[in-house]
Amino acid sequence: MRKLIEKQIVLATHNIGKVKEMQTILAPFGVTVLSADDLKLSEPEENGKTFIENARIKAVSAAKEANMPALADDSGLCVHALDNRPGIYSARYNEPKKNGFMYAMERLNAELGDTKDRSAHFSCAVVIAWPDGDTEEFEGRVDGRLCWPAKGKNGFGYDPMFVPDGFDLSFAELPAEEKNKISHRARALKKFTDTCL
Ligand code: IMP
Repeated sequence: MRKLIEKQIVLATHNIGKVKEMQTILAPFGVTVLSADDLKLSEPEENGKTFIENARIKAVSAAKEANMPALADDSGLCVHALDNRPGIYSARYNEPKKNGFMYAMERLNAELGDTKDRSAHFSCAVVIAWPDGDTEEFEGRVDGRLCWPAKGKNGFGYDPMFVPDGFDLSFAELPAEEKNKISHRARALKKFTDTCL
């Protein structure tokens, strides 16, 4: 497993919600985190078939373009009664309405109809890539259930309709520190920090 010697990395994401969460999680390790927006990096086409493939595409492209180690995450919500949809299409599920995530959440809820099985999980793949093309890859997941109506104002994306196992509050009702202890992203990043830092 390759260690991260460099103390500056770029996050290969333009999603401000993810940038904030990852900066918070990585801050204690003394790693300076730049965003893809800071460096005006291009956005490669995410044409992978899995979270890992998409994270690898983003990390490898950003590391080459920025000429520094790049960390990418690809994540999404997998609803068990819907054959794990929207999965890698979680962000795209909100199109054509890009303002807020109410459209995607209503769409999911409508697809579920009166299905009793509301179980779901968030999945996250984290890939660190170096400019030479080398990568290390990690995955994390958090299980829970979908609630309706959606509730809470914190977080982003599908957080208001996801209640993690062991809690009654949605991810959007939990304080950020609580979500960051148990989330799919926190778990994948913990594997990254345990291994590479
Ligand atoms: P990506 O940028 O292609 O990885 O998009 C992931 C999408 O999955 C996001 O835009 C959200 O819709 C959803 N998602 C991933 N992680 C979370 C989370 O922690 N909370 C809520 N939604 C999430």
